[in-house]
Amino acid sequence: MTIPKRVRIVEVGPRDGLQNEKQIVGTSTKVQLISQLASAGLTNIEAGSFVSPKWVPQMASSDEVFNIISSTLQPTYPEIIFSALTPNKIGMNRAVEHDIKEVAVFAAASESFSQKNINCSIKESLERFNPVMAKAQSNNIRVRGYVSCALGCPYEGNIDPAHVAEVTHRLLDMGCYEVSLGDTIGVGTPETTAALLSELLSKISADKLAMHMHDTYGQALANILISLQMGISVIDSAVAGLGGCPYANGASGNVASEDLIYMLNGMGIEHGVDLDKLLIAGNTISIALNRANGSKVANALLSAG
Ligand code: HMG
Ligand code: MG
Repeated sequence: MTIPKRVRIVEVGPRDGLQNEKQIVGTSTKVQLISQLASAGLTNIEAGSFVSPKWVPQMASSDEVFNIISSTLQPTYPEIIFSALTPNKIGMNRAVEHDIKEVAVFAAASESFSQKNINCSIKESLERFNPVMAKAQSNNIRVRGYVSCALGCPYEGNIDPAHVAEVTHRLLDMGCYEVSLGDTIGVGTPETTAALLSELLSKISADKLAMHMHDTYGQALANILISLQMGISVIDSAVAGLGGCPYANGASGNVASEDLIYMLNGMGIEHGVDLDKLLIAGNTISIALNRANGSKVANALLSAG
């Protein structure tokens, strides 16, 4: 077993967490969440999406959010990477305006999901990323990649790990510094996670991969544990277990950041996040959204007083 000593957590709550909320969340609520996450010690925060506002109205305020990040939060926390999703050239132009340090392009291992989510085939999506990568390079912006449906698709069911490997290779070859494997609808189990990683790790080094586990079937922590045991050291999570994907019906949130941190603490793995401060962030946003906190750890600690 090669369990990492330290894990880098990519907090996706402000983007993946909020994109699925039906009611539009105000910019000040979004910024307060991002600010509380920064103060809790998270160093990688996915703060919004430069996607089409017609497709995801909730993310339409990402320009406003990033205006505030660049004027106030980034100067206060110069070491933090505040990133955003960019599906195409238009998104990348918006990102450049905000002097952003990192963007993420997102592809899928399932044709049907690619069509539903970004209105094009997998091949077309990868072609669309070429100008995004070029602009990123000329502006010194790092690019992360996502592969959705890595462990199953809402439209096609099981996905062959070889397809995931192919898209992952393409993203790395075009210049993504890391690829996050998305279990978009949370159907993976430790068995299928291990099979996927065995396939990928035969050709790709573990430090190029991250896990993005939605917790729809309650398997996320188990799948993350297997991933850690297989040497993966970057994990995506969302405070209070917020989230889902508007184009994957029924998909619930990512693994809750609080639950991930509790597990890492128990395993003696460093992560740099202050759990008490994170609990405040999770409770504050849950109250603002008028929904129950989706973190088991937050609920247990709250009821324990
Ligand atoms: P399209 O309709 O095919 O695009 O959408 P288009 O190029 O034909 O443009 C249509 C209109 O949108 C035009 O405006 C463009 O200017 C505008 P009009 O002329 O009609 O007024 N437009 C834009 N506006 C602002 N920013 C942009 C942009 N692009 C076009 N970037 C497109 C294609 C990719 C844009 C669309 O399908 C889209 O935005 N999809 C995003 C869907 C999304 O955000 N899904 C959730 C994120 S992915 C996810 O959650 C999975 C993940 O978490 C991992 C996992 O869990 O697996 C990452
Ligand atoms: Mg997701």
